[in-house]
Amino acid sequence: MVGGPVAERSTGSADTEPVRAAAEQFLKLFHAENPQAGSIGPRIAEVGREIDRTGTYWHTTDELTFGARVAWRNNARCIGRLYWHSLQVRDLRTVSDAGDVAAQCFDHLRVAHNDGKIRPMISVFSPETPTRPAPRIWNEQLIRYAGYEQPDGRVLGDPRYRTFTSELIQRGWRPPELPGAFDVLPLVVETVEEGPRVFQLPGQAVHEVPLEHPELGWFADLGMRWHAVPVISNNRLEIGGVSYPTAPFNGWYMGTEIGARNLADNDRYDLVPEVAERMGLDTSTESTLWRDRALVEINRAVLHSFHLNNVSITDHHTESRRFLTHLEREERAGRRCPTDWTWIVPPLSGSQTPVFHRHYNTTPQLPNFFTDTEATHRALQGGPPAFR
Ligand code: ARG
Repeated sequence: MVGGPVAERSTGSADTEPVRAAAEQFLKLFHAENPQAGSIGPRIAEVGREIDRTGTYWHTTDELTFGARVAWRNNARCIGRLYWHSLQVRDLRTVSDAGDVAAQCFDHLRVAHNDGKIRPMISVFSPETPTRPAPRIWNEQLIRYAGYEQPDGRVLGDPRYRTFTSELIQRGWRPPELPGAFDVLPLVVETVEEGPRVFQLPGQAVHEVPLEHPELGWFADLGMRWHAVPVISNNRLEIGGVSYPTAPFNGWYMGTEIGARNLADNDRYDLVPEVAERMGLDTSTESTLWRDRALVEINRAVLHSFHLNNVSITDHHTESRRFLTHLEREERAGRRCPTDWTWIVPPLSGSQTPVFHRHYNTTPQLPNFFTDTEATHRALQGGPPAFR
């Protein structure tokens, strides 16, 4: 009983020190904000022994739930954090093979959509452990549209995913007979045992809103649509020294994400020139502000259509005010609220929203969500695989 365990513990403790420190910091936060959770001493001791034995530890369901909510609260890029406490957490930490991960993601889409009354939700799959790496979802979101490079170099669909789409086709994905501008991409789930596997989304998992304009009748003829639920699926959730690379989460949309970015960006659907043309605007000179005028109408169409279809959405003026309410609450609770101005200020009429006119604390805090470089690469380039 002298050699083995002692040697094991001493080598173990060298590289487990960061996990130990992060665990302790998180447990302090958890117990400070959840007095009903009992005393912290025994829990820290227990977690310490588990780290000695395994190099990691298993969060209680309450710790996981709190950790995921606080990761949202701490995410400097999100304007919608007022409702951080309402995040529903699906504990799927025992789910780890590709087919089960995919099936649970499809359930997530159904439950989160909730007949249009969207529920903020996260599904947490197997964590990264010293003995087994966690699964990975390649896609940036559970629902994304294919982008097909045409012979003339233009792209049908979402140009952001042109490379991802062609990589999937190389891997054997068959696009619809007649490719369109809004073909839902399949999900790629990779595990160390199975490698990357491709799963078609079932129809019931995908809810979309066809876009029309409250006054401009021709707008519907553009054939534009967007999916109802944005589920980010390639961010890593980090809680108390434990990494959950597969933890897809969603809120509901703010209209400008679709109307001022996805449909309007030059390197996305690039709709502004066509809408300006149809509106009969003078596009011969920038000074008519035809871009700005068209952009506003696209955004009106998005908000109008989501409302018409009873799908939750928010506008950037309302959401900016809510965010300032959130900041006040956090301040009153004695907490810092890390905020990235460049992500918080809406891409339309920024100076008309109160979030524009102030400075923010930028010191990062944990728990949080991370956009890892390799994950971004997989989401846009369709590889290379995480495990080879
Ligand atoms: N901006 C992303 C998109 O347009 C979605 C990011 C998350 N947005 C949200 N409202 N939760 O798809």
